[in-house]
Amino acid sequence: MLEPVRNSLRDDRPLVWRRVTDVPDFVYFDHSIHIAKGVGCSICHGDMANMALTYKAKSLTMQFCLDCHRDPGPRLRPKDKIYDTSWTRDATTPAPEVLLAQYGVPQRSLTDCSICHR
Ligand code: HEC
Ligand code: HEC
Ligand code: HEC
Repeated sequence: MLEPVRNSLRDDRPLVWRRVTDVPDFVYFDHSIHIAKGVGCSICHGDMANMALTYKAKSLTMQFCLDCHRDPGPRLRPKDKIYDTSWTRDATTPAPEVLLAQYGVPQRSLTDCSICHR
């Protein structure tokens, strides 16, 4: 499985990166605000740590984005769980309102077209 990586090193040629996750160019997407506000990688990429080969686990359609943008609170997680790809909400997870306040997610409409189409 890792042969292409070894070849890349030996031949000093960059790996050919085949994209799995891609949104069209007319969609504005920025990782940093999501990570900073408690949205874990696995929400959009699935349980990467347990995939033998990367596959697209989530649709990443407009509907998918909007489902969360309408009501992000219940999907946010504590900062130290951002990279935990098998994390799920449990009894120890702070309430949605607590996380929203902690991350300072403002009361603004995240469903306006211009948020994602600029
Ligand atoms: C809110 C959804 C969301 C979250 C959370 C998220 N990503 Fe992404 N990620 C995307 C989208 C959408 C793209 C495609 C962006 C594009 O087309 O420009 C992407 C692309 C990527 C790519 C390139 C994938 C490829 O096929 O080439 C990597 C690597 C990546 N993300 C890693 C991460 C990591 C690591 C985290 C957590 C720290 C993370 N992402 C969190 C939505 C997300
Ligand atoms: C699980 C929840 C969740 C998902 C899924 C999600 N987002 Fe977000 N998104 C957020 C939160 C939370 C914020 C931050 C709101 C704030 O604090 O202003 C945000 C902010 C944004 C912003 C605003 C950035 C800015 O600087 O104004 C854009 C653009 C965005 N998201 C695009 C997307 C796109 C495109 C997708 C789908 C590929 C997506 N998001 C999926 C939760 C989510
Ligand atoms: C949270 C981010 C987000 C918001 C807000 C958003 N969109 Fe989108 N939109 C997307 C993404 C991601 C895609 C590409 C994936 C897809 O086609 O589902 C998309 C695709 C589209 C497309 C192309 C559909 C196609 O079949 O090719 C249109 C048209 C569109 N959006 C219009 C709108 C309008 C109008 C609004 C406001 C009412 C809006 N969008 C708000 C994320 C968003």
